[in-house]
Amino acid sequence: MSAQSCAVVTGAASGIGRACALRLAETGSVVALLDLNGAGETRKLVEERGGRAVEFTVDVTDDEAVRTVVGKLPEPPRTLVNAAGIIIRKKLLESSVEEWRRVLDVNLTGYFIMLRHVVPAMARAGGGAIVQIASIAGHTGYGFSSYTAAKGGVLALTRQLAAELAEQGIRINSVSPGGVHSGLNRDTLANETIRSATVGNTPLGRIGEPDDIARAVAFLAGPGADFVTGTDLVVDGGMISTIHWGNAGGELHSFHTREG
Ligand SMILES: NC(=O)c1ccc[n+]([C@@H]2O[C@H](COP(=O)([O-])OP(=O)(O)OC[C@H]3O[C@@H](n4cnc5c(N)ncnc54)[C@H](O)[C@@H]3O)[C@@H](O)[C@H]2O)c1
Repeated sequence: MSAQSCAVVTGAASGIGRACALRLAETGSVVALLDLNGAGETRKLVEERGGRAVEFTVDVTDDEAVRTVVGKLPEPPRTLVNAAGIIIRKKLLESSVEEWRRVLDVNLTGYFIMLRHVVPAMARAGGGAIVQIASIAGHTGYGFSSYTAAKGGVLALTRQLAAELAEQGIRINSVSPGGVHSGLNRDTLANETIRSATVGNTPLGRIGEPDDIARAVAFLAGPGADFVTGTDLVVDGGMISTIHWGNAGGELHSFHTREG
């Protein structure tokens, strides 16, 4: 999508959302940067590269606030990227009900609230494309129940909506990142044991960067994917293709690779 249209990105103040905003700005669309925190730094980066951006400080779990923001978009929305997310690293019995609800509220209900306000405006504009940031945690057990459940919900919601939104000229897909440098896991990846285990479990041998995800998002949002809807693109350097071998232990893994 280009001039006279808007690409709406949530979680745009940081990490993957910021990288998506920068990529989508290259299409000529004005990018609407939504975040709980001010997205001024992202706006500056977009403008430095010749793009156009507007920022809105908004909590995606606040239905009324999101309705107001969508009403103020400078141009009709033709792209939506749902990326705002949080994680609380607690196992099932460590989680309080409030913590469980907060993770589901931001990572799943927040996506629903964005959809329920953007979809009608997108349909009125003639259709568009939606990309939801899920996670490989939605495909595999990752250890943190509320996050895994929310991301599994995003994958299911995306499949569910493909047929419903196609009637309105809207495609919807998701991207499932593996480990990516961002605000979400800055502390975790600063731990050398976790960092080297993550790299060791990634066949392509590195941690992902936000732009690795943004390029996949730009593809799914763009004309090259105009026959793609209801699917998920895993962008994880191959992590979930081998993670079970990793879990089985290094020796078993090297035995199988040695013996074929
Ligand atoms: N970084 C990873 O390794 C990784 C892996 C898989 C999936 N993801 C997903 O990618 C998405 C982006 O996260 P990130 O890694 O860039 O982390 P990040 O912390 O850098 O960015 C998340 C952004 O979401 C915003 N946000 C949080 N709650 C919000 C709310 N209620 N309303 C509006 N904005 C809110 C934050 O302020 C922040 O700017 C998330 O959905 C996350 O679950 C990240």
